[in-house]
Amino acid sequence: DTQQVTDTLGRPLRDLRISVTDRCNFRCVYCMPKEIFGRDFAFMPKEQLLTFEEITKLASIAMAHGVRKIRLTGGEPLLRRGIEDLVGMLAALRTPEGEPPDLAMTTNGTVLAQKAQVLKAAGLDRVTVSLDSLDDAVFQAMNDVAYPVAKVLHALDAAQEAGLGPVKVNMVLKRGLNDQDILAMARHFRGTPFILRFIEYMDVGSSNGWKMDQVVPSAEVVERINRVFPVEPLEANYRGETSQRWRYKDDGGEFGVISSVTRAFCGGCTRARLSADGKLFTCLFATKGHDLRTLLRGGATDAELEDALAALWGARSDRYSQLRSANTPGLKKIEMSYIGG
Ligand code: GTP
Ligand code: 5AD
Ligand code: SF4
Ligand code: SF4
Repeated sequence: DTQQVTDTLGRPLRDLRISVTDRCNFRCVYCMPKEIFGRDFAFMPKEQLLTFEEITKLASIAMAHGVRKIRLTGGEPLLRRGIEDLVGMLAALRTPEGEPPDLAMTTNGTVLAQKAQVLKAAGLDRVTVSLDSLDDAVFQAMNDVAYPVAKVLHALDAAQEAGLGPVKVNMVLKRGLNDQDILAMARHFRGTPFILRFIEYMDVGSSNGWKMDQVVPSAEVVERINRVFPVEPLEANYRGETSQRWRYKDDGGEFGVISSVTRAFCGGCTRARLSADGKLFTCLFATKGHDLRTLLRGGATDAELEDALAALWGARSDRYSQLRSANTPGLKKIEMSYIGG
């Protein structure tokens, strides 16, 4: 049967974030620091990755249970060979009401200029691109592979031109690294179709050495921008939106702040995550996932897969960000590059 599932806190399952690879060509200091993700790091072997057919099967079952939005992530999703084929397969899925999913992707933009047209043609609706600074020295210190700002800006334009907009730009703030670039970024993207979002650095995974004093609280970001460009709050686009929206009073458009540390949004969290090797995670900060690949490859019927998904979501009680202060240190959490942003 097909119906909306809700968890123990009454939150419906609405979004599925699918990681298609745990690899990335960046080594962002807050995500895949080089000291840990070095030359000898063991990424997933190919045979452990879900095939496109397996991913599509699970997505279709999730859509039967309430999923309306699908986001492809990684690692870097555009490094997965033939990703446009997967986009096409997912875009062909339908909700019980006959609607296609809202299909988005989070990418670092390195292959995007080259792929934007085919992705759009395959059915991708929109992209979010990471960019942490406009200053090459700072950006390169953060991506740690000497990747230049200009190429990301070019990718943003290519994506917008291809119709993958409104393109969102993610800037993760780390105190002492790029917080001096807040205003320059705001100024650059004001009055453009791009929607900039400032993201609080999170204690996701166990590799990035997160410390609370490296977090730049969103309230400070808004205050610093407001002093130069007066802003006012906007209504959320939908319940449980991660980003709090702000608009420039002079019609310079909007920006957002994502405050998972200082203002947790677990109460409206409708997101499930599927790792590239087929584990389902009901929270970004989970310490363990639920192996759906073994079920799939063991010949489980659709009904059995549906029951498994409904049972997992039905048992969910995660609200890590709301509980953070009490239990952060010491947990062996899953890496963001594995579980997907
Ligand atoms: P749209 O509204 O569809 O554009 O998606 P979004 O606002 O969720 O944006 P996106 O997927 O780009 O997420 C932006 C960032 O928010 C991520 O990279 C994470 O840093 C953070 N984030 C997203 N989902 C969660 C979540 O469930 N929990 C926490 N703690 N952080 C999240
Ligand atoms: N804190 C906050 N956001 C993070 N991302 C990755 N690691 C972190 C972290 N530690 C997010 C960024 C990036 C996306 C791919 O993942 O938003 O744009
Ligand atoms: Fe790669 Fe994105 Fe992680 Fe940076 S944040 S290392 S681009 S997956
Ligand atoms: Fe959802 Fe977990 Fe993030 Fe809270 S911490 S918003 S429950 S993914």
